[in-house]
Parts: sequence; C-alpha cells; structure tokens
Amino acid sequence: MQLMNHLSNRLYLVLVIFIISVSGQDKPKKVSGKDQSNKQSPIPDPCPSMCTCVSDIRVIDTLENPQMVTCSYKNLATFPDFSAILDNMTTLDLSYNKFAKINLVDNLTDLRTFNLSNNIIESIEPQAFEQLPNLQIIDLSLNKLSSLPDMVFAKLSQLKEIDLSDNGLTSLQENIFDDQQWLEVLHLRANNLKSLPEVLFRNNERLRVLDLSHNELYSLPDTIFQSTLALTTLDLSENQFSVVPSEDLARAKNLEELDISANMMKKLDHDSFTNLNHLKVLRINNMKQLTEIDDYTFSYLCYLKKIEIKFNPRLSMLAHSAFYGLNFNSSCFNLEEVNLYGNQLSEMKEHVLPVCKIPIVDLRDNQWKCDCHFKWVKSCKQDDPIHRQIRCLSPLKIANIEISDIDEAEFTCPIEGNGFSREIRLFRLFVVLFGVLTLVFMGFMVVYYLHKAKVIGSFGHKYQRMGSIHYVKTQTNEGQE
Ligand SMILES: *[C@@H]1O[C@H](CO)[C@@H](O)[C@H](O)[C@H]1NC(C)=O
Ligand SMILES: *[C@@H]1O[C@H](CO)[C@@H](O)[C@H](O)[C@H]1NC(C)=O
Ligand SMILES: *[C@@H]1O[C@H](CO)[C@@H](O)[C@H](O)[C@H]1NC(C)=O
Ligand SMILES: *[C@@H]1O[C@H](CO)[C@@H](O)[C@H](O)[C@H]1NC(C)=O
Repeated sequence: MQLMNHLSNRLYLVLVIFIISVSGQDKPKKVSGKDQSNKQSPIPDPCPSMCTCVSDIRVIDTLENPQMVTCSYKNLATFPDFSAILDNMTTLDLSYNKFAKINLVDNLTDLRTFNLSNNIIESIEPQAFEQLPNLQIIDLSLNKLSSLPDMVFAKLSQLKEIDLSDNGLTSLQENIFDDQQWLEVLHLRANNLKSLPEVLFRNNERLRVLDLSHNELYSLPDTIFQSTLALTTLDLSENQFSVVPSEDLARAKNLEELDISANMMKKLDHDSFTNLNHLKVLRINNMKQLTEIDDYTFSYLCYLKKIEIKFNPRLSMLAHSAFYGLNFNSSCFNLEEVNLYGNQLSEMKEHVLPVCKIPIVDLRDNQWKCDCHFKWVKSCKQDDPIHRQIRCLSPLKIANIEISDIDEAEFTCPIEGNGFSREIRLFRLFVVLFGVLTLVFMGFMVVYYLHKAKVIGSFGHKYQRMGSIHYVKTQTNEGQE
C-alpha cells in the first residue's frame, strides 16, 4: 500500500514536470514565431538565422545550456552574429563555406569543437584562436593552408585533437604544438611535408594517434618519438620511405598499429620491424616496388594480431621463414587475421604459417602453383567461403578453378620424389639425360664398329684386291722401266 502510494506520487510528479516542460517549450515558439526551421531548438531566438542550433548532448552533463551550432553549406565568408548565443556555444560547425582568412574569433569561452573543414582558408591571423580557452577539437582539414602562423595554437592548452589534413603544408615550426600537452589525435594527412622537426612532439606525451600519410616523407628525425610514449597508432602510408624507419619507431614503445603502405620499399627483412614489441596491427599494402619479404621479417612481432599484405603488384617472394618464431612458439602466436590478397605469390609451404589455426586468412588473387607443396591448402577451412575462393594459376589443367572444386589428388608434382628441391630435380634430370645420351652413344659406337668390321671384311677385301691390282700394275710399270 505504501509502495503504491509512493509510486502514484512519483507518477504525479513526472506528469507535472512533463506539463511544465511542454508549456515551457511552447512559449518561446509563440514569441519568436518567425523561424519555422528552428522549431526543434529550445532557444530559437539567439540562433543566427542561417544556422541550426541544437542541444550539445556531448557536454550536457557539465554545462547548463550547451548549444551545437551548425552553419554548413551557406557560402559564408564572414562570421554570422553569434553575440546572443556566445556563452552557450560549445560546438561551432562552419564546414563547407567560403572562408578564406580567419581573423580573431570572438570570445567563445565554452567552445569545445570548432569545425572549419572544407573552406578555402589560406591564412590565419596569429592570434585568431586566442580567445577560445576551452577548445578541445579543431578541424582545419580540406583548406588551402601552405603554412601556419607562429604560435597559432599557443593559447589552446586544452586541445585534444587537431586536424590539418588536406592542406598544402610544406613545413611545420618546431614549437607549433608545444602548448598542447593534452593532445591525443593529430591528423597531418595529405600535405606536402618532406621532413619534420626533431623536437616537434617534445611536449605531446599523450599523443595517441598520428596520421602522417600521403606526404613526401622519406625519413624521420632520430628522436621524434622520444616523448610520445602513448603513441599507439601511426600512419606513414603514401610517403617516400625506402626503408622502414624501425629505429625511430622503436622509441614509440607502445605502438600498436602501423601502416607503411604505398611507400618505396623493395624488400622487407629482419631489420624492418625490430623492437616493435607491442605491435598488433601491421599494414603493408599497395607497395609498387616491393618484390620480396625475406626470412625473419616478422619474427619479432610476438603480439601481432592482424597483418595485411595486399595489392602489391610485384610481390612474388614470401620467404619460408618470414614468420619464423611466431609460427611455432605458441606463447608468441596471436595472429587472428592474415590477408595476402592480390599479390604475385606462387608458393607458400605449409610451415610458413599455421593457416589452419588462424581464424581469418585470405589468400585469394595470387599466382598459386597448385602442386603437391600447396596441397595443405585443402586440408583446412573447407567451410570458409573466402578460403574456398582461392584459384591456382598452374598447372594448366586446374588453372583458374576454385580450389574447393579441385580434388586433392590433383595437387601433384610432375616428377616423383616429392620432397626434392628444384636443384636436385634438375640434377636428376641431368643424370638421366646423361645416361640416356651415353647409352645412345655407346649403342651407336657398337653398331658403327660392327658395321665397320663387316665393311672392312668385304670392302677391305676389295681394297686389297684393288691394291694388289695397283701393286701389280706398279710392279708392271717398274718392270717396264
Ligand atoms: C546560456 O544558457 C543559460 C541557461 O539556459 C541562460 O541563462 C543564458 O542566458 C544563456 N546565455 C546566452 C548568452 O545565451
Ligand atoms: C574577451 O574576453 C576578455 C577577457 O574576458 C575581455 O578582456 C575582452 O574584452 C573580450 N573580448 C571580446 C571581443 O568580447
Ligand atoms: C567537420 O565537418 C566535416 C564535414 O561536415 C566532417 O566530415 C568532420 O567529421 C567534422 N569534424 C569534426 C571534428 O567533427
Ligand atoms: C617464445 O616467445 C616468448 C615470448 O616472447 C619468449 O619469451 C620465448 O623465449 C620464446 N621461446 C622460444 C623457444 O623462442
């Protein structure tokens, strides 16, 4: 009974609150009445007419009336009048507009996220962001910045994420991120950076994610990752590296995810990934020049979970011991996904990788030679559709047929003595050929001599007779003289 009372009291209270809030929401709508598009907004009036304002749910717990203000796709080149909403604006999205220059941004003391992506910004006033003390995320991607003014982020000590992707940056000042001790995510993708200052990240101990992809980097300064002990994700893809900068990377002791795709390496070997003790994900895709992955290349990567080696148009050699150490030492084996799609590989012996033990393996679109050495591929993962779709390039009889449709008995080697190497097989072939030739030669000699003996038997007789005639003649001549 008491419980029921309590419950009905609760219900009544909820109802009252609901009615109050509904009538409270109705009021401003009637007062303003002019802007139909802002019906949803709790405070339609202060919102500039070309923008939409909604409650910023991300910070609603910590602030009283946080507003997310979106003014995208409005051809704006100057700031709308935000004076009425200034204090409560936590997110400002000005992406897809026509801003070419960023001057001082007025006191937006609660602004957390500032999105200026997809404009045509060529220049920024050095003090432009000085009055945004609580800014945490700034997105300047897809603009036309070829340089940044000195100290442009100087007062932004709360910044956690900076996106400078898709600009034309050719260099960075060594102190540009000095005041960002909370910086966690930095995107520098698709700029024209050829080198980086050695001390660029000296104060960014919390940097977790760094995207340097699609630049013109061919080396990194020795100690660039000296302070970034939190770095877990690094993207170096689409640069000009001809060797993996493994010594520099080794300083980022907690690196878990590395992408070195689309660089200039011709070969990867045991020096490429040393001391990356925490690496879990490695991507080596789209390497135009890569031909060879040598013995022991991945031997040190005890914690490797996922490896991608895809679309390398010249990669024909994956050495038998490339994964040596991972494949037999069970405490060192964590592979869950191996993707070798779209290379030029023709051979892979059973012991290279324990394919049957790895949950996801993609070997499709290579040049596999389906002989006795590749027979093992039939022995596991029969149900896995991706695994079944592997096709062979040779032998001709079973070329281009999915391995699921080929009988295991077809995986044969042309010359018997299956375990032998090519050299030994060649040697055997040579010996056999030599034997046959010797026999033929000897046979020929025997026939020849037999024949000769016979011919001499008859012909020699003739000759002797002729000789005798001749002799007789000579004698006659002599006798005549
Ligand atoms: C900010 O929100 C608070 C609480 O709703 C409100 O009292 C104040 O007037 C707002 N300030 C501005 C400038 O809109
Ligand atoms: C911004 O805030 C500072 C300090 O609170 C104040 O001195 C300055 O006048 C303000 N500027 C504007 C444009 O409101
Ligand atoms: C900024 O806006 C662009 C375009 O709308 C969007 O793709 C991007 O995710 C936004 N950035 C942030 C940090 O929210
Ligand atoms: C197997 O891996 C563990 C972990 O790295 C290592 O400590 C151990 O020495 C390895 N054992 C062999 C036989 O290589």
